[in-house]
Amino acid sequence: MDFSFTEEQLMIQDVARRIAQEKIAPSAEHHDQTGEFPLENIRTLGENGLMGIEVPAEYGGAGMDPVSYVLAMIEVAAADAAHSTIMSVNNSLFCNGILKYGTEEQKQKYVRAIAEGREIGAFALTEPQSGSDATAMRCKAVRQADGSYVVNGKKSWITSGPVAKYIVLFAMTDQDKGARGITAFLIDTDREGFGRGKTEPKLGIRASATCEIEFNDYVVRADEVLGAEGEGFKIAMTVLDAGRIGIASQAIGIARAAYEATVEYVKERKAFGQPIGAFQMTQAKIADMKCRLDAALLLTLRAAWQKGRFDQGGARFSNEAAIAKLTASEAAMWITHQALQIHGGMGYSKEMPIERYFRDAKITEIYEGTSEIQRLVIARNETGLR
Ligand code: CAA
Repeated sequence: MDFSFTEEQLMIQDVARRIAQEKIAPSAEHHDQTGEFPLENIRTLGENGLMGIEVPAEYGGAGMDPVSYVLAMIEVAAADAAHSTIMSVNNSLFCNGILKYGTEEQKQKYVRAIAEGREIGAFALTEPQSGSDATAMRCKAVRQADGSYVVNGKKSWITSGPVAKYIVLFAMTDQDKGARGITAFLIDTDREGFGRGKTEPKLGIRASATCEIEFNDYVVRADEVLGAEGEGFKIAMTVLDAGRIGIASQAIGIARAAYEATVEYVKERKAFGQPIGAFQMTQAKIADMKCRLDAALLLTLRAAWQKGRFDQGGARFSNEAAIAKLTASEAAMWITHQALQIHGGMGYSKEMPIERYFRDAKITEIYEGTSEIQRLVIARNETGLR
């Protein structure tokens, strides 16, 4: 067993850190306050390979491994979580699924545009009445005689929905078959029949635009079906396994930023004649924050390593990804809570980024499978019971 990173992994971590510190961190507060979508920064990340980290160079990506993705995501999330949300959807939920299930033409068209940062991608699974219970979807695609499909229905909570050019959509093609009746489609948002609803005002990750989308007799051509008919749920779940590693990394980035700020603060801030870091109550908090941060990181790296094996034909990594996401997101919530408490009034004030970390951390326990769903996945895997 070797805990060291390769030169390539360290290189992409460096690239991500440089962009995160030079371009993203200085405008993080502005993006949080205004909710403005950071298009220019996303393009810069794309031009540097960070929108398609695991995408092979022949499709416009950086051709790196899942561990590199984790390292880069952490750097971006530590500067601003909203940027890392957009990055994770482009990398994990959009490019990843098309790379695994798409045709050569689909990879050249859709993956290249997103990996190079020229366009934004999205992933549409959730509906107003179905989130965790994803197979309860109502959005329908009806096959026509010529092999095309006509799509009708609504999807909600679509990350990057307001700006996405392409979307991986999941729709019901055969209601009677349940999970096996769902098919994945590649959607061009500039085409007739596609519409957008209002942008959601959110507690955190405010610069990552989120909206409802709607399909009214939208026609998908036969060559725009991703994978086989009825394979959609498996595609969604496989892609979400990868996505959960991305969200775990995002949680670690947010938690690390809060932790590092806190370590500095407890050395400087004095109370009762000494730095507050010299008090045992603060020391216990610092030690516990560090343990949870490291545990989250190690579990996430393990999941990424397992995904690398899966990509080479190895076993599924659903359990490792769920364990990583659950641990990292709950660590991020706990660590940002402690950071805020230690900072006291300054933590509650918008003059410091601590309250932003606290707000941003919460979403990691909700999207790409709530903590309850991660526990369900883990318990099912461990017991074999349903
Ligand atoms: N990989 C591959 N296949 C999988 C799989 C996986 N991880 N998990 C399940 N499947 C397959 C099963 O093998 C089964 O296949 P067969 O029919 O061939 O046997 C099929 O899928 C159905 O599986 P289940 O019976 O286990 O399905 P279920 O209805 O009980 O649901 C669930 C399982 C874990 C609860 C799942 O629905 C789930 O993960 N729900 C959460 C959905 C979610 O994460 N939504 C997030 C929205 S996207 C988002 O947040 C993006 C964003 O904007 C950032």
